[in-house]
Amino acid sequence: MKKPIVVGCDSAATALKQAVTARLQELGHQVEDVVAPSDDAPYPLVAAEVCRRVLAGAPNARGVLLCGTGLGMTISANKFKGIYAALIHDVYSAERAALSNDANVVALGSRVVAPQLALKLLERWLELDYRSGPSDAKLAAVKRLEEENFRPA
Ligand code: RB5
Repeated sequence: MKKPIVVGCDSAATALKQAVTARLQELGHQVEDVVAPSDDAPYPLVAAEVCRRVLAGAPNARGVLLCGTGLGMTISANKFKGIYAALIHDVYSAERAALSNDANVVALGSRVVAPQLALKLLERWLELDYRSGPSDAKLAAVKRLEEENFRPA
């Protein structure tokens, strides 16, 4: 099923975001492009806006976060309850992010992965869905941690 996809980047990944947006649209996805408030907007601001929109469009919406390494975006996104963000840099991690981790957001590093590979990884992640089985108990444990640690003070 085609999923609505929210895409955002920092200044290290502007060209990659253009390529990603074009490819996802070509594949028939509905793409929401989060425009950073300024050219030098720090990655957490962009990650936050993408995550808010993914949560608003849950459970179908997906998020794609692009920065130099993908690391800062991944860390920032995982500060949101209900966001399960995975860093993907190879086919295996892209597949497992969907099949085992049920990640609703992925991050990629524009300085780590070549653009053509980045597009392939996103395509692979988006065509797969979570596969219920041995990961169920692990995901339930992640959700328990989330309940414990996102509890209001
Ligand atoms: C550049 O600001 C760089 O820190 C950022 O793009 C990203 O790699 C952070 O994790």
